[in-house]
Amino acid sequence: MNLIRRTWHSSLGKKYIMAITGCALVAFVIGHLLGNLQIFIGPEPLNRYGHFLQTTPELLWPVRFALIVLATLHIAAAVALTRENRVARPVAYAKLEVVAASYASRTMFMSGLIVFAFVIYHLLHFTIQVPGINFTNGDFSTLKDLKQRHDVYRMMILGFKQPLVSLFYAFGVGLLCLHLSHGVSSMFQSMGWKNKLYGPFLDKLAVGASIAIFVGYISIPSAVLLGFFDKR
Ligand code: HEM
Repeated sequence: MNLIRRTWHSSLGKKYIMAITGCALVAFVIGHLLGNLQIFIGPEPLNRYGHFLQTTPELLWPVRFALIVLATLHIAAAVALTRENRVARPVAYAKLEVVAASYASRTMFMSGLIVFAFVIYHLLHFTIQVPGINFTNGDFSTLKDLKQRHDVYRMMILGFKQPLVSLFYAFGVGLLCLHLSHGVSSMFQSMGWKNKLYGPFLDKLAVGASIAIFVGYISIPSAVLLGFFDKR
């Protein structure tokens, strides 16, 4: 208990908390992307995967619980660190310093908040399947495939056929990746892995991985809107 309190009350401790929780959240984002990309193989693997998750509560609920704890700690540490920085530096940064900082680094708090709002919409859209927000006049929870499993494949296609919904996903995932490009690089810094030799390489790795994640996620709504799944 004492260790937790001491970690929370030091700036470095909070940076470690942000790095470790951020790393675990990135692992989820990559795993989730790989699961979703099964849509390109066809309805069977995607629906089997969705059915497996829904019918394995001993896996689903611990993962959900872990995600909530990780996201809460990540956001709480971000809020506390931002507040501490404001108290330590009540006068805004000089103009030159602002120019030197990257766009991603200056917008971390804001991009994080918007990504959080996007995730809430996404949960209501595809997990809780609230009919009023999918803009299709249909109810995704009633979609069943031939094996009477929830038809995740058709849900994604119907969902992304709505251009404004796809656009919002592109915006949300774009901001997530902007957030990640700086966040992953800060994580390497907090862990003390960035030095003159590896620093530039690790920065490029963070940007490259963020672009790959963006392209991976955005490929799904793009393929739907381009009619890729219509011929199947
Ligand atoms: C094109 C982008 C995305 C697609 C197609 C997609 C697809 C899905 C689908 C179909 C589900 C519901 C699974 C089910 O109940 O069977 C889901 C749940 C979820 N997604 Fe996404 N997702 C996308 C982007 C994201 C992003 C960027 C994040 C995180 C930042 C995210 C986080 C989640 C979470 C936390 C859940 C809830 C998992 C649970 O059931 O507990 N998703 N997603």
